[in-house]
Amino acid sequence: MKDIKITITDRQGVKHQVDAPTDMNMNLMEVIRSYELAPEGTIGICGGMAMCASCQCYVQSDHPLPEMGQDEDLMLSEAFHVQDNSRLSCQIFITETLNGLEVELAPEA
Ligand code: FES
Repeated sequence: MKDIKITITDRQGVKHQVDAPTDMNMNLMEVIRSYELAPEGTIGICGGMAMCASCQCYVQSDHPLPEMGQDEDLMLSEAFHVQDNSRLSCQIFITETLNGLEVELAPEA
């Protein structure tokens, strides 16, 4: 199974191009954590349940993303630093259609 490339800009503005596996049922928050692109304890606090917004990111490329679920929508309506392109990275699962995705981590809330 093949990996896809994702470009992630960290909270210091540094871009990282990383490989993400499409066959491990991983979400984007887990990919960010596995490359340690945000300090432990500042991302993925709720474990990927769409209940904390610590994994918020801004989607900068034009990829077709899965629709926002009700939980994600609700969480983002209460979160800080929200922009039109905000998503919770824990709700974005890694699939081949996301090859070349570009995201930026939102500031720590
Ligand atoms: S990890 Fe908590 S909302 Fe994504």
